[in-house]
Amino acid sequence: MELLQALNWRYATKTFDATKKVPDDVFANILEAARLAPSSYGLELWKFVVVDSVELRAKVREVAWNQGQVTDASHLVVLCRQATATADDVEKFVKYTAEVRGMEVSMLDGYKQMMLGDVPNRTEENKAAWMGKQVYIALGFLMAAAAEAGVDTCPMEGFDPAKVDEILGLEARGLKSVVLCAVGYRSAEDKYGMAKKVRKPASEVIIHI
Ligand SMILES: Cc1cc2nc3c(=O)[nH]c(=O)nc-3n(C[C@H](O)[C@H](O)[C@H](O)COP(=O)(O)O)c2cc1C
Repeated sequence: MELLQALNWRYATKTFDATKKVPDDVFANILEAARLAPSSYGLELWKFVVVDSVELRAKVREVAWNQGQVTDASHLVVLCRQATATADDVEKFVKYTAEVRGMEVSMLDGYKQMMLGDVPNRTEENKAAWMGKQVYIALGFLMAAAAEAGVDTCPMEGFDPAKVDEILGLEARGLKSVVLCAVGYRSAEDKYGMAKKVRKPASEVIIHI
């Protein structure tokens, strides 16, 4: 119930109060929710880039339809996928899982072979779509956690990914931007904050067969 109340309260905030900062511990919890999001095989082929630099945020805004959320929100998160996915990602993941769970790597061999038979064999286009879709799960977790903490967000696809990658030097990190998320507090002036939530009725959206 609390979660549903929070989801009814949240909206894609257009105007943030630029004077209000999300406390570090609250923001850390919001990012933690994104980190805990599930991913295909558990590979976590993503990174969440927090743009602290005021200058970089101004530059990102220029290639993000001049959306004020980019510079005015307390924080800007660029949710990224890896540029590619390789057998090396599988190897590292298996090694790490064995370490965390105190197992022999060999015990995970069946799982490893299954992943090796899939991940490296995908086309680059397929990998991009596959990793990108998973990034949106993390986005959902981040936004829901923020709402539960009474923190506003605005997910944004309205930007030029190639330009954002260039501005933030993401290529050098082996990353591609997927979606932006502004995190902060709504301005009392944001007229969208007063607008009634528009959602189709459950009877139209949910199908029982
Ligand atoms: C993937 C995605 C991309 C979006 N891109 C933008 C954007 O660039 N700018 C913006 O103001 N809102 C953006 N939105 C917000 C949607 O317009 C908004 O979530 C939708 O209208 C539903 O309204 P609500 O979230 O306020 O309930 C985006 C939402 C999603 C999920």
